[in-house]
Amino acid sequence: MVAPSILSADFANLEKEIKAVAEAGADWIHVDVMDGRFVPNITIGIPVVKSLKKVSPLPLDVHLMIEEPERYVEDFIKAGSDYLTIHVEATKDPVAVLRRIRELGAKPGITLRPKTSLATVLPLLPLCDLVLVMTVEPGFGGQSFMHDQIEKISKLRQEINAKKLNCLIEVDGGINAETAKLCHEADVFVAGSYVFSKDYKTAIASLK
Ligand code: DX5
Ligand code: ZN
Repeated sequence: MVAPSILSADFANLEKEIKAVAEAGADWIHVDVMDGRFVPNITIGIPVVKSLKKVSPLPLDVHLMIEEPERYVEDFIKAGSDYLTIHVEATKDPVAVLRRIRELGAKPGITLRPKTSLATVLPLLPLCDLVLVMTVEPGFGGQSFMHDQIEKISKLRQEINAKKLNCLIEVDGGINAETAKLCHEADVFVAGSYVFSKDYKTAIASLK
């Protein structure tokens, strides 16, 4: 599956952009939420997610790059997040937050910064529908793919298969037609600058 990240879309025309990538074959819409604390950038928040939900024909895959996500998961789910992914580094009690996301009716996801050990997320996989491998330092679109993160995808694939877990592997950061090949063990590719800087249909088809 391909989840275009609207961080690289035209923010003045999000409805048009979402409909265009849906028409071009996208599967999910990836929404990057940043608080200026967990990452040094501020993007969009709850009211925008709510507005996107009204117009999106595709599931919203919301990636929270915020401190203490427990304070906001309920609001983001009420606003229409289908998948809601938190960073393992951002909360003292990821188990409680992931359980809460499921209780509130969304699909929980866990993610980690490139420098964080995979061991921090492995025990959380049974609570998740999604595990997101960051292949750039979170915070900005348009950065270069970090090859040293590919190993995490393979290890996750082994763990998920061995334990027969129901958890998709998503990869985010620097994904293009070349780097996507290196991540063939993932289920979902997030791509921002690659999709939105090209003809959407050609870009999405080349990732698939
Ligand atoms: C980075 C975000 C990404 C970003 C990816 O913090 O999580 O989703 O939009 O952008 P590209 O595909 O341009 O690396
Ligand atoms: Zn993201």
